[in-house]
Amino acid sequence: MRCVVANWKMNLNSDEARAFCEDLLGRFTPKSGTEVGIAPPYTLLRLVSDLVRPKGLKVFGQNGHAEAKGAFTGEISMPQLLDAGCSGVILGHSERRQFFGETDAALAKKIKAAWQWNLLPLLCIGETLAQRDAGQTLEVLRQQLFILSETGPGPLWVAYEPVWAIGTGRRAEAAQVREAHAFIRSELNRHLAGTDHQVPILYGGSVTPESFPELLGIPEVAGGLVGGASLDPRKFAELVKQAY
Ligand code: PGA
Repeated sequence: MRCVVANWKMNLNSDEARAFCEDLLGRFTPKSGTEVGIAPPYTLLRLVSDLVRPKGLKVFGQNGHAEAKGAFTGEISMPQLLDAGCSGVILGHSERRQFFGETDAALAKKIKAAWQWNLLPLLCIGETLAQRDAGQTLEVLRQQLFILSETGPGPLWVAYEPVWAIGTGRRAEAAQVREAHAFIRSELNRHLAGTDHQVPILYGGSVTPESFPELLGIPEVAGGLVGGASLDPRKFAELVKQAY
């Protein structure tokens, strides 16, 4: 299975989102075997889900709280994401880890909450440049995946996103992606041994239509989590077609 997910981050208003979806849907015919998702800001979830879910696309929240409701000003819960039309939720994006203090302990709770509400968690992991330079990449990935020993197995997508490649135009090299994805697969096999969960591993970090075909040729790269290039429907449709 291939997966291509647009992470809009804190971009677009409702007019722009509607125009994007109408333009995008005119550019490709959804095909079985390739899952396409969009992760809009919360205010656009209902609009986007009404437009794209009838065509078979998935809609993801960009974050979700572990509690179902309560006094958590500024947060959004898993049942609220579900109610707004989401089928999944991005968890542990490096921008949330870096700017909003997201911890592995909190992420374990969020994954369990997502499962409780039948949302598919898309867990993001990846090393910073300092960690890579210090030779700690695989250890960081191992630690970030260790939360699966607490959550137990369940439906999951994972995105490998080296922090230094996000929004920088500096994509990881093929050998780096190959090594990281092979390692993530071996860790997933360990955590999910004895279950039949198939976990696709997406690559994220400056993915463009120029770089995506090479990335898709790397073993264990099932697709992409795309930021910048996902704000242009022409480019995003191109990425989807490359994944076919
Ligand atoms: P980018 O973002 O494609 O702009 O590097 C990817 C992401 O943050 O998921």
